[in-house]
Amino acid sequence: MSVDSNKLVNERFLRSNKYSPEWVVASASGGANSLWLAEWLTTAMDLRPGMRVLDLGCGRASSSIFLHREFGVEVWATDLWFSASENIRRIRDANVERYVFPIQASARSLPFAVEFFDAILSIDSFVYYGTDDLYLSYLARFLRPGGYLGIAGAGLMREFDGPVPEHLREWWTSDLCCLHSADWWSRHWGRSGAVDVELADSMPDGWNYGLTGTTSSPLKIESKLRPFRRTEESTWAMSARLHAVETT
Ligand SMILES: C[S@@+](CC[C@H](N)C(=O)[O-])C[C@H]1O[C@@H](n2cnc3c(N)ncnc32)[C@H](O)[C@@H]1O
Repeated sequence: MSVDSNKLVNERFLRSNKYSPEWVVASASGGANSLWLAEWLTTAMDLRPGMRVLDLGCGRASSSIFLHREFGVEVWATDLWFSASENIRRIRDANVERYVFPIQASARSLPFAVEFFDAILSIDSFVYYGTDDLYLSYLARFLRPGGYLGIAGAGLMREFDGPVPEHLREWWTSDLCCLHSADWWSRHWGRSGAVDVELADSMPDGWNYGLTGTTSSPLKIESKLRPFRRTEESTWAMSARLHAVETT
């Protein structure tokens, strides 16, 4: 695998810089750099050693390994498409199997006890199931009272009504209607009554922070590694960050 390391080292993401670019690319599950997104999201969350964290839609569990290593938390690395047997290998390789537990499950049918988690994070995954009006109330039951919930992933800088704006039209497909702005998410979560939204923002230059830098990969990830920017005026943000606390 050939990786342009320089593009995966960034002064903005000092924690992520400690991880080998080859490992980051080999354990990527989509077009985003899950370590950068996790690092950005966790600046808004007070994670403490020993906390129980659900990494929902963790893909190949690189963010789960990162969360344990950086914050000393215990992580239930939960995903639908990637099996627990595959993820345990990566977790063992990272020597964190006593603290990171792979689970294959759907976000809509979670095998956990109520109020089990101190924090729930979802990196580049929540849009697959979280736009449902009823979903947040379901998920929030797994958080202890006052626990944290945070998501980061691709989104829009601004919502649009009607036709797809000219600058997005070239690559927009109908399934992208699940992408929303930070304001949209804030309203959506606020209306649920299940959480108090403390922060909802976008990384203004987020389109710069796709998982660029791979020139080839046995996983054929390169086909997904388009930078999100299509034009300088694009409303794409790589990331919308949302952080809420469960109502007590
Ligand atoms: C774009 S990948 C991101 C994975 C990882 N968080 C990352 O950043 O590399 C989206 C992930 O969401 C997961 N996902 C989609 N629908 C899901 C569901 N209903 N329950 C759990 N995970 C789901 C998929 O299995 C997939 O791994």
